[in-house]
Amino acid sequence: MPGTAESGARQVYERLHDVGPVHRVTLPGGLAAWAVTGFDALKAAARDRRLVHDPNRVRGAWHGVPVRRYPLDGVSVGRHVLSADADDHARLRRLLRPFFTPEAVALCAPVVRQAVDRALDRFAERGGGDLVADLALPVATAAVAHLLGLSTPRTQELVALSLRLSSSAHPQEPAMTAAAAAMTKQLTAVVAHARRRPADNLTTALLAAYRGGAVSRNELLGSLSFVVFAAVDSTLAVIPAAVLQLLAAPQREVRRSLIEGTADEVSVVEDTIRLAAPFTYGVWRFAAEPLSLGGQCVDAGHPVVLCFPAANVDPRVWPAAWRVRPDRSGPARHVSFGYGPHFCPGAKLGRLQVRTALVELFRRFPGLCLAVGREELLCHENITRHFVAVPVLTGPYRGSGRSCPARPAAGGGPAVIQGTKGLPGQEGRA
Ligand code: HEM
Repeated sequence: MPGTAESGARQVYERLHDVGPVHRVTLPGGLAAWAVTGFDALKAAARDRRLVHDPNRVRGAWHGVPVRRYPLDGVSVGRHVLSADADDHARLRRLLRPFFTPEAVALCAPVVRQAVDRALDRFAERGGGDLVADLALPVATAAVAHLLGLSTPRTQELVALSLRLSSSAHPQEPAMTAAAAAMTKQLTAVVAHARRRPADNLTTALLAAYRGGAVSRNELLGSLSFVVFAAVDSTLAVIPAAVLQLLAAPQREVRRSLIEGTADEVSVVEDTIRLAAPFTYGVWRFAAEPLSLGGQCVDAGHPVVLCFPAANVDPRVWPAAWRVRPDRSGPARHVSFGYGPHFCPGAKLGRLQVRTALVELFRRFPGLCLAVGREELLCHENITRHFVAVPVLTGPYRGSGRSCPARPAAGGGPAVIQGTKGLPGQEGRA
């Protein structure tokens, strides 16, 4: 499976699609698992209730699954919706629902727009910036602050801790246990604040559910912590990856239509999100009983990972799969936001963030280009796959055939954007 270079993903997925929809793979750490890459097989698996998220529901053989290394356990300080199944899952998910309705997302739109505008003002001042730390991060942080009803500094602290917890380090490393303890302390303070000053936000709603006995304290803190992770990690991954898709040479016409305002924005953004799906193979399901998946026999206890980005480029479903095609029609909808009962409740908000960032970025800086070569971009991979940094320059627009004049000469080393510091909580990571 591809880890660092961006181009690696295409080679691997194409090869896997040639072989079949479900594969026996070895996960980092040596654990045997099944990876589902075919579009139809993935949708069937996502709906299959015999594939459970909670490893405690698996009876019998464990096949060496090291429960403590279950990656999702590390990202949240308690039980949450994506680690629960059936009735428990429905109960935890119901509590989130009012904050992700179209009306609730509309209330968040000005917050997202302001964060994008501010970030792009900084790009204009400095002649560029990092799409991860300087654009996606402030946009994600603003949305989390709005959802949970928090101040910006408090949200920034939570986001930094969440980024540390979602690193690929072992959950029992001292730095990780310290981050988990700090996250628990911060969230306890957030809940205490909501107790003193209740308001119309997710924190107050979860606190009310806890007081009414609908969730445990572990689930209260776990849900808050997981929403920070889910909102931040995915947005950090998708916005830069989507911009990179549109900057690629084959997408020149699509990019131009976006810049010149002739594009059907919604369709361009949707098909770009298809190619920027972040959840690679970090969220495991477990076979609660033996089952057949895409023609393979999966024994009870085995982990099964759904590889959403691979399914989105399955050539049996997506002609010219690696191109952004706003004219795609028909029933085949991408699975970047998942499928089935765990379908992303934040999809509307995620779409809003990506669309606002993409449209404003290309409209304001039609000559936008990468400040380094694509081969220099590194990816970080744990639950989601995202770029460590994507430095760009706001070069002048010269029509569809332009190349960015500010691009450093070969051998000159990567361009340095003044003020780009990397992500909080991930300093020094690659
Ligand atoms: C473009 C951005 C986003 C993408 C691509 C994305 C993708 C996904 C995917 C693929 C899943 C399902 C994982 C699985 O079934 O294994 C998921 C679940 C989830 N997402 Fe998102 N997400 C995004 C934004 C957000 C935002 C902004 C929030 C919250 C503010 C959010 C909250 C959640 C939650 C709570 C779940 C768990 C749902 C459940 O288990 O029922 N996501 N997301």
